[in-house]
Amino acid sequence: ETVESTESKAEGLSAEKLQSVIESAYDRYKDLDEGANADYIPILATVPSDLFGIVITTKEGEVFTVGDVDYQFSIQSVAKPFTAALVMQEHGPEKVQEDIGVEPTGLPFNSKLALEVHEERSVNPMVNAGAIAVVSMVPAENEDERWEKIMDNLEAFAGDDLTVLEEVYQSEYENCWSNRAIANLLFNYGRLYCEPEEALRVYTRECSVGVSALDLGMMGATLANGGTNPATQEEVLDADHVPELLALMAIAGFYDESGEWMYTAGIPAKTGVGGGIVAVVPGEMSIAAFSPRVNASGNSVKAMKAIRYIAGELGVGVF
Ligand code: DON
Repeated sequence: ETVESTESKAEGLSAEKLQSVIESAYDRYKDLDEGANADYIPILATVPSDLFGIVITTKEGEVFTVGDVDYQFSIQSVAKPFTAALVMQEHGPEKVQEDIGVEPTGLPFNSKLALEVHEERSVNPMVNAGAIAVVSMVPAENEDERWEKIMDNLEAFAGDDLTVLEEVYQSEYENCWSNRAIANLLFNYGRLYCEPEEALRVYTRECSVGVSALDLGMMGATLANGGTNPATQEEVLDADHVPELLALMAIAGFYDESGEWMYTAGIPAKTGVGGGIVAVVPGEMSIAAFSPRVNASGNSVKAMKAIRYIAGELGVGVF
C-alpha cells in the first residue's frame, strides 16, 4: 500500500505501474488456498497460512508493498544464494564450481540420490547438499566465527539487523535426520570441508533466520543493483560475481521445478519452504513475496503465482 516515491527510475516503469501490478497480483491470488504449510519442520505448520505479502524494491531502493510484508518468517532456503555469494566473494566462482558443482539436479531439494549420481559434480549451492557444502567452505577458525560471518553477510544483504528464530532452529535441528544423512554423505565423498555436525548446525541456523518480505526485497535488490545494497551503499558482492550467482538461481532456484519456473516466469529466483521467494530482475529490481502454503516441491504457491504474474505484466523476463 505504501508508495515511498512517485517516480520510479526502473526503465519505462512508473511508480504507479509497479504499485498497481503488485496490488492486482495480490487481489488475484489472495483467496487461493492450494498447498499447505510445510510440516516436516513441525513449527512451520503453526504459521498462519493465509498470510500473503508482495514487495517490489528497485535497484535505487524504492519500495512498493502490499499485504503482510512485515511479518517475520524463517528464511529457509532463500538464504542459500546469499551464503553462496559469501563463498564466491571469499574464494571466487571457480572454486564453487569445482568444490560443489553448478549443475541442476532436477531432483527435490533434499535429494540424497543427487549426491550419488556424479560424486564430483551432481549438486549445486541452491539445494540442501550444496548449501551445506557452502557453509563448510566459509573460511573460519571455529563454529562461532563461521556463524558470525554468515549472519553478518545476510544482514549486509538485508541492510538491517536480523535475528534467529530460536524456536524454528530447535524444531528443525531436532528433526534434521535427512540433512544429517546429506552432510555425512558429502563428507564421505570428500565434498564437505568442515566437520559434518558443525556444518549441519550452522546450515540449520541460517535457515532459521527471521526475515520479512521487506527484508527479502532489499536482499534481492542488492543483487539487482550489482551487489551493492541500495539502502546502505555497502558493496556486499563484487559486481563481477553477480551473473554467476543469478545463473545458479536460474538453473536451480526452484529445485525440480526450476525449468518450469524459468520457462514460465523468466527471471532468476530462490524459494524457501517457509513460504518466501525472492526474484531478481538484473539491473532493475527485486520482486519478493511471502505466503506459507507450499506445493509438493516446497515452493510457495501464492508467492510463485504472484511473482510470475508480475514478471509477465511488467515484461521483465531476462530472455
Ligand atoms: O534444510 C531444509 O530442509 C530447510 N531448512 C530448507 C529447505 C527449503 O527451504 C526448501 N525449500 N523450498
